[in-house]
Amino acid sequence: MREPLLKVRNLDVYYYNIRVLHRVGFEIRRGEVYALVGESGCGKTTTANAILRILPEIARIGNESSILYYKDGRDPVDLLKLPEDEFSRDIRWKEISMVFQGALNALNPTIKIKAHFLETAKAHGIRDKKEVYKRAYELLSAVKLEADRVLESYPIELSGGMKQRVLIALALFLNPKFVILDEPTTALDVLTQREILFLLKELKEKFDLTYMLITHDIALVADIADRVGIMYAGRIVEESSVEKIFYDPKHPYTIALLRSVPQIGDFKRLPEGIPGEPADFRKLPPGCPFHPRCPEATEICRQKVPPLIDLGDRKIACHLYAKEKVS
Ligand SMILES: Nc1ncnc2c1ncn2[C@@H]1O[C@H](COP(=O)(O)OP(=O)(O)O)[C@@H](O)[C@H]1O
Ligand SMILES: [Mg+2]
Repeated sequence: MREPLLKVRNLDVYYYNIRVLHRVGFEIRRGEVYALVGESGCGKTTTANAILRILPEIARIGNESSILYYKDGRDPVDLLKLPEDEFSRDIRWKEISMVFQGALNALNPTIKIKAHFLETAKAHGIRDKKEVYKRAYELLSAVKLEADRVLESYPIELSGGMKQRVLIALALFLNPKFVILDEPTTALDVLTQREILFLLKELKEKFDLTYMLITHDIALVADIADRVGIMYAGRIVEESSVEKIFYDPKHPYTIALLRSVPQIGDFKRLPEGIPGEPADFRKLPPGCPFHPRCPEATEICRQKVPPLIDLGDRKIACHLYAKEKVS
């Protein structure tokens, strides 16, 4: 088994007094693609922002949470305990980088792409323009753009797919080991989505990267993920290899997510939406947060939150399987 790179444990996050993440825990191994999947609003971006320590001021992380990072395979450091100056000098962007959700329109429209690279470099104390352009050229070529032309372009002159490639190149500027991709293809058409996924796979090999790929679209991760964590209402509810998740899903929520994917060529079976509303953190129901939408719910599901248990081939938080384990 590959060595660990990141271990998130008991991650609790509150916005004001509303608890959004509940004991979120998972491990990511060096060189793998870990997909974090769940409906919009379930806490994926919050998880990513906690790792990169860019949560807003109003957010609070629980005292029992830890995020262990194995830099260069050495003894892990708890990212939550590092002083901010150390974290920003050694970790943020240099070790762990992120392609932000919805960032396509965050590129400054008034400056050329080359100026975006200069700004990124300046923020990290690199002022040698020649060096910056050389690296920008390398990276833009690596993301399969015509580097000379793109460096001289304004964001408005680029298509959505090209802008996403630029954002990926910017995220790689300081040579990070671990890249969080937050909905990296959501705003793009289906063909461009495929191209970006293909590119991400290629970059991973070329630069020896590890990814956390965040998406609400489970279909997207089939070809790229090694392992998948399914999140519901701020909790990991099932986690396993990509094969188990797609071919032998067990949690009723995972099954519902897969049913909501359109099947190519199957015109008779329309994708089914998941009944009911996504969980509202301000008024989570007692018991399993998925029970109001769950076709399998029984009395215990309305009363007790199912713990995340290890079945050997997967982790799952569902009373259907908790019972199996006891008997
Ligand atoms: N800055 C914030 N202040 C208050 N609530 C927030 C903030 N950011 C996110 N939330 C809430 O936290 C929950 C999880 O959000 P988020 O992590 O963005 O979910 P996802 O990325 O899975 O769509 C949502 O209910 C959202 O409204
Ligand atoms: Mg998000």
